[in-house]
Amino acid sequence: MTEFAKFEGNTGPINREFRTHVCGQLRASDAGQKVRLSGWVHHRRDMGGVIFLVLRDRFGTVQVTCDQTISDEAYKVAQELKNEYVVRVRGMVARRPAGIENPDMPTGEIEVKANEIKILTKAETPPLVIEQEGNEDPSFRWKYRYLEMRRPEVQKRFIMRDKIIKYIRDFHHSHGFIEIETPILNKSTPEGSRDYLVPSRIEHGKFYALPQSPQMFKQLSMIAGFDKYFQIARCFRDEDLRANRAPEFTQLDVEMSFIDEEDIYSHTEELLVGLIGETTGRAVVAPFQRMTYWQATEKFGSDKPDLRFDLPIIDISEAFKTTEFKIFREVLDSGGTIRCIHLPGAQPSRKEIDNFQKDAGKGGAKGLAWIAYEDGKVRSAMGKNVTDSELLNVKEILKAKSGDSVLIVAGGKKIVLDSLGYLRNSLAKFYDLIEPGVFRLCWITDFPMFEFSEFEGKIVSQHHPFTQPNAAQWQEWLDAGKPMEGDLLYGMLSRSYDIVLNGDEIGGGSIRIHDQDQQAEIFKILGVTGDDLQQKFGFFLEALKYGTPPHGGIAPGIDRIVMHLVGGENIAECMPFPKTLKATDIMIGSPSPVTDEQLRELGLKLI
Ligand code: AMO
Repeated sequence: MTEFAKFEGNTGPINREFRTHVCGQLRASDAGQKVRLSGWVHHRRDMGGVIFLVLRDRFGTVQVTCDQTISDEAYKVAQELKNEYVVRVRGMVARRPAGIENPDMPTGEIEVKANEIKILTKAETPPLVIEQEGNEDPSFRWKYRYLEMRRPEVQKRFIMRDKIIKYIRDFHHSHGFIEIETPILNKSTPEGSRDYLVPSRIEHGKFYALPQSPQMFKQLSMIAGFDKYFQIARCFRDEDLRANRAPEFTQLDVEMSFIDEEDIYSHTEELLVGLIGETTGRAVVAPFQRMTYWQATEKFGSDKPDLRFDLPIIDISEAFKTTEFKIFREVLDSGGTIRCIHLPGAQPSRKEIDNFQKDAGKGGAKGLAWIAYEDGKVRSAMGKNVTDSELLNVKEILKAKSGDSVLIVAGGKKIVLDSLGYLRNSLAKFYDLIEPGVFRLCWITDFPMFEFSEFEGKIVSQHHPFTQPNAAQWQEWLDAGKPMEGDLLYGMLSRSYDIVLNGDEIGGGSIRIHDQDQQAEIFKILGVTGDDLQQKFGFFLEALKYGTPPHGGIAPGIDRIVMHLVGGENIAECMPFPKTLKATDIMIGSPSPVTDEQLRELGLKLI
């Protein structure tokens, strides 16, 4: 039987009418005590003349023994009980006879011999078995989330979530931060996703936006002089959902004045080292590894590299510089690149390569070439199109050995790196290369300031428009007459950083712009000008005028942190009442239609 989170000594208020103790509390030293317990029937075993119940509450489980010879009345009630009935038990704590203690149960040295059982509420057979975690489809489990949350494993997750949030709050309070709540009925902030909108009843045609993050408010708290702000902030983004992306999620939002990147790094490292140690007992060592955005993407094909395994991406263009193999030749002649992942001691089958090709294809690769080195022989997907010396060149660059293989993508640099980034992760999973039970954290720094969004057809900020550009590059751009295209603009780096845990971005932030002119210039670059600028950001540009301290911040995603610390793979499972990948709440049935009257009040008409 799965045991609940350990009882940690704090029952909270206890009403003696219902109970003197909670279920996980009793120990051998309590033997001989008369007790009352209330809880759910977790398990019932009828041995004829004796019925054993496992009684459960949030604090654990305890065995209640209903012996006909002790109380016929209690025994009779016990005969009626079914799982999930809510009962009150009166009885005496006794040590279990030697040999039948249950070492898996914290209360396993004792049992409560029942004198009286009162049914407080009957229960229908629940659609989910509570005793153990099942792998039913989420659409079923989440319809009955309140029942699923009775499951020991699920309760443990939320007890852990509470611990994490408490640790974060205590940590910030003890480090001079104050928690400031910011509005939920907000105005659109340019975080890059679609907003959830709330129509105004009073001003028809106008909308609030739910915050994608409290970005401008955290900065306004600095302008207001609070110096060190934090908030456990709910954020809302109407975007394509995934295992690590929910429509509504929780951030630890942090902002500090008179600091630079190093202060954010050391603050976040101290927090995470302490938090991980305290909640999982595992050690992580600070300072965390750091690499720039370009270093990460060149080496790992991702700005969120999983460092629990190696498999770096290696450039082998040089090996093919004189190749006559048409595909490689065209790639190199058009400024592209040929890169690979070297698999020591492994040679995938054709079928496996087909699957890897599909994984690489997620990054845009049209094909996946391979080479396999064997004793005195070399095989390759390119057959006779490539020469032996080219294949040996590759072997030389990689220091490959017999028994190794090489998986190759050729093409434009972005596609090649993205594709090998996807491939790297699937190879690690397939060959079981991921070091288990470790937390590998790293900082990714110096992201590009801007990028061209194909979707929006215009230049956008890679982090957000409040992020400070690299000072020297900004000056260079100003000195060059503010060119609106080319490397001076698109090659400009920003003072931004992400924190990555086991290949997942668990937080991001930046040093902010505190100069009003620079902020206005950035909006100009982004094409936000005139009335649009005034309407969206006029108040913020004005606020920057009245003495803004240099400041910066970060926002770790709490759901993602909880997911990693509980060893999960999906953030929704770590959210108490989650939404599906279609952003629906199956239990309460949201979103839901509203009445014509409600629409009329809001001045809205459905089309
Ligand atoms: P960013 O957009 O990088 O930065 O978000 C910060 C962190 O929030 C988490 N996160 C999410 N978690 C679950 N579901 C989502 N849909 C989701 N989107 C983001 C991630 C991410 O790293 N205002 C800036 C922060 C700043 O500059 O201080 C911001 O929100 O863990």
